[in-house]
Amino acid sequence: MFSAAFPSDRGAEVGPALVKVEGLEKSYREGGEGTVVLSGATFEINRGETTSLIGTSGAGKSTLLAIVAGLLLPDSGKVQFAGEEVTAMDETERASLRALRIGVVVQSDNLIPFLTASENVELAVELAGGERPAEKAAGILDELGLAGRSGVLPRRLSGGEAQRVALAVALVNEPELLLADEVTAELDSKNAARVLDLILSASAKRGLTVLIVTHSPESARLTDNLLRVADGKVEVG
Ligand SMILES: Nc1ncnc2c1ncn2[C@@H]1O[C@H](COP(=O)(O)OP(=O)(O)O)[C@@H](O)[C@H]1O
Ligand SMILES: [Mg+2]
Repeated sequence: MFSAAFPSDRGAEVGPALVKVEGLEKSYREGGEGTVVLSGATFEINRGETTSLIGTSGAGKSTLLAIVAGLLLPDSGKVQFAGEEVTAMDETERASLRALRIGVVVQSDNLIPFLTASENVELAVELAGGERPAEKAAGILDELGLAGRSGVLPRRLSGGEAQRVALAVALVNEPELLLADEVTAELDSKNAARVLDLILSASAKRGLTVLIVTHSPESARLTDNLLRVADGKVEVG
């Protein structure tokens, strides 16, 4: 009731947004032709909440996620993460943000093929300057049901196991935000459900904020919020 009467006060008081995306514009240019992918994409993600991002193929979901991750820069508009402007950072600062505070998992090929499951996770700790990488890797692999698979190379892992190791890599440094781009798209329904469940329980357990790009109605049903990319914009619901 008060929030309706004093909308500006409420915003200042609550301020729960971890991610604020404002007016993103992005086109890809190939030859002379430009494809406009985002044109005024604006949304917020609250700390500790889980959100599914849906939209037709080619709508710009992966582009949007890559911009939030600081992997790609927009033509204009801005992304704020925990009050810091990602779109104003240089490449080193954005890489450091991903190493320490934002975990990213994509559809496939998340792992370095010549390192074992455990070594992949340990490397993430080392790149973030963390201590006791082996211990941390063992802990998170165990939590994700992979204790017996730590010495195995990626090509010997099943699709579901490989995605769980990728999740371990993304979570081992205790990030505030997890970005997951169609991470269950190549899995059968049982393994897809298991990976999704692990993501959602990691969120519940750690207060992790999660943004999942998905085609799965199940995922969209299980997250707190639903966002849709269409015509270069982001709509709620
Ligand atoms: N690196 C790129 N160069 C040129 N066009 C691209 C590039 N990446 C994506 N696109 C195009 O941008 C549009 C949006 O792509 P994407 O963000 O991957 O969509 P989604 O993840 O929703 O399927 C598509 O038309 C795609 O072909
Ligand atoms: Mg995509």
